[in-house]
Amino acid sequence: MSVEKAIRIQLNGESREFNVTAGESLLALLRRSGLTGTKRGCEDGACGSCTVIMDGAAVNACITFAFQAHEREVWTIESIGEYDDPSPLQKAMVEEAGVQCGFCIPGIVMSVKALLDEIPNPTHEQILENLDGNYCRCTGYEKIEDALHRTIAETSGEEPQWTR
Ligand code: FES
Ligand code: FES
Repeated sequence: MSVEKAIRIQLNGESREFNVTAGESLLALLRRSGLTGTKRGCEDGACGSCTVIMDGAAVNACITFAFQAHEREVWTIESIGEYDDPSPLQKAMVEEAGVQCGFCIPGIVMSVKALLDEIPNPTHEQILENLDGNYCRCTGYEKIEDALHRTIAETSGEEPQWTR
């Protein structure tokens, strides 16, 4: 019999309580809680499709135990924009054709958000390093970079440090 323990997470700005088992991943908890925007891909920490932001840092929810989020702040893709009011990055992703099947996109948006929250106008090397853990099987990344370039120009108030 698996023992459950109560945890509390500040989830998308709201204090939430959950009962979790020792082995339950944060990804499993989020998805069973209805937050299915966080995608289940490799479940091995390799593809980045499950990326969420925990205490300001991008983490792979599939290799984070749910209990590790106890008393921490977690943000998921559901906190970023609305269908009718997307964030600048989401809007640029769509309009620059950075989205094809879309499976990787929630993870990429959360990874980029964590980067831009810390470094509003990153170098190209910092962007590539940031996206190193996010696989996209469809786009070839070029259009995603176009979207990032546009977003940085719009949100940082500066010219990006790299050209497209
Ligand atoms: S599902 Fe978490 S890194 Fe792939
Ligand atoms: S858009 Fe399909 S995997 Fe990235």
